[in-house]
Amino acid sequence: MAASHSDAFVFFGATGDLACKQVFPALQAMIRHGQLDMPIIGVARSSWSDDQLRERAHDSLQKHGGLDSQAFDKLSTRLHYVSGDYGDDATYQKLRQALGSAAAPLHYLAIPPGMFEPVIRGLVKSGCGRGARIVIEKPFGRDLASAQALNRTLHKSFAEDAIFRIDHYLGKEAVENLLYFRFANTFTEPVWRRDHVASMQITMAEQMGVQGRGAFYEEVGAIRDVVQNHMLQVMMLLTMESPKDGGPDAIRDEKLRVLKAMRPLAPAEIVRGQFRGYRDESGVAAQSQVETFAALRLHIDNARWDGVPFYIRAGKQLPVTCTEVMVELRPPPRALFDADGSGRSNFFRFRLSPDRLISVGARIKAPGESMVGSATELIAHHHPGDEMTPYERLLSDALRGDAALFTRGDTVEAAWRVVNPVLGEAAVPVAPYEAGTWGPAAAARILAGGDRWHDPKAQEASS
Ligand code: BG6
Repeated sequence: MAASHSDAFVFFGATGDLACKQVFPALQAMIRHGQLDMPIIGVARSSWSDDQLRERAHDSLQKHGGLDSQAFDKLSTRLHYVSGDYGDDATYQKLRQALGSAAAPLHYLAIPPGMFEPVIRGLVKSGCGRGARIVIEKPFGRDLASAQALNRTLHKSFAEDAIFRIDHYLGKEAVENLLYFRFANTFTEPVWRRDHVASMQITMAEQMGVQGRGAFYEEVGAIRDVVQNHMLQVMMLLTMESPKDGGPDAIRDEKLRVLKAMRPLAPAEIVRGQFRGYRDESGVAAQSQVETFAALRLHIDNARWDGVPFYIRAGKQLPVTCTEVMVELRPPPRALFDADGSGRSNFFRFRLSPDRLISVGARIKAPGESMVGSATELIAHHHPGDEMTPYERLLSDALRGDAALFTRGDTVEAAWRVVNPVLGEAAVPVAPYEAGTWGPAAAARILAGGDRWHDPKAQEASS
C-alpha cells in the first residue's frame, strides 16, 4: 500500500522534450507553491552532471513558462541527476543511493512506452519500487491487445492505486468544469438527455502541423494521439450519469459505465484525412497512411443517449487552434414565431482551449412590432489568472496519491475497445486535404441528416 504523500520525485527522460517543455515548468511552479519539499532526481542516458541538468532546467524555464529565480534556486538545490542505461542494473543501484532515506518515491516515466518494461523491472529489482507510485505518459498501448499487455506488466509490480496514467486534458480547468457545470446547475440536467439534445460535437482543431515530431506521429496518428484519450475523456464527462458522490472512484466508475455503453466504431462512421505535405516531413514514410485528421460519429446505447449522434473532429493543419464542445438542442416543439430565423440557436458551447468560454445560444426578440428575433449568445468568458498548468496540477495530485484525474486501467482498455475496430488492417484509407482547411470534404458524410460541423471561428464571427 502506497504511503499518503510521496517523499521523493524521480523523473525518467530528464534530458528529453517532455521534461523540457512540461516537467521543469511544473516542478518550478510546484516549488513556488510549496508542494515539492523533497529530493528531485532526473534520470536519463546521457552522461551529464547535476550541474548540466540544472543548466538544462534553466534553459527550459527561460523558453517555457518563465524563470522565477527564487523558486529556481530552490529547485536547483534539490535537483540531482542519475545517468545510465535503462536496461542496466547499475542505473537503479545509483538511483537507490540517490534516494537516500526516501521510502515512498514517485517515479514518473516521461519516456517512450517501449522503455516502460525495462524501467519497471529495474525499479522493482533494485528496491526503488518499494512503497512507490508510478506515473506514466500516454500512449497507453497502441490498440486493445497492447494496452492489456501494458496493464499486465504494470500490475505485476504495482497495485492499481499506485499507478497514475496521465492524460493532460484531465488537468485542464475547463475540462474539469464540464462535470461541475453539468451537475452544479439546476437548468442543465433536465435538458441533458435525448429528449432535448439533438447532437453533441467536439472539435479539437490545431493550426500547427506535426512540428518536427514526424517519427513520433507516424507511430500514432490522430486517433491514437488525441481521440482514444483526450476526446473520449471529454465525451465521458459530457455524457456520464451523476456520480454517487464527488470521490475519485465514484466519478471514475460512472465514466467507465458510459464508455462501456459506447458502440465500437464502424468503418462507415469514420473519415481519416492527411494534410498535403505531411509525407515530406522528416521521419514520415513516402506512402504514409497515417491520419492527421479524423472525423467520427459515435453512439451511446443507453436510456439517456439512445439515438443521439456524437461527433468528434480532430486534426492538424486546420484553420484554427481551438478545442470546443457544441451541445445542440432540439428546436422548441411548436414554431410560434420566426422559427426559420437565421443563425444557430438553442445550444451550449464550451471552449476548452486556448481560452475558456461557456455560452448559451438563444433567440432574442428584435425591437419592433413583429415577433421576430435573431440568434444571440450569452457568453461567460474566463480570463485565466495564476492557474495551475495541467502538469503542475496532475503531478501534485499524484504526489498526494489523489487519483481522481488519472485514467484507470479498465477505462484505458474500454476506450481502446471503442476505436479498435478502425485501427490497423481495418483502417479506412486516408483522404488528402489542403493545409488550412477543415479536412477532406468526405468528412461531411459522417453527419446525420441536417447536422453541420461546428466551426468555432465562424460561430464567434456570427455572434
Ligand atoms: C498531445 C498530443 O497529447 O496533446 C499533441 O500528443 C497535441 O499532438 C496536444 O498537440 C494538444 O494539447 P493542448 O493542451 O495543447 O491542447
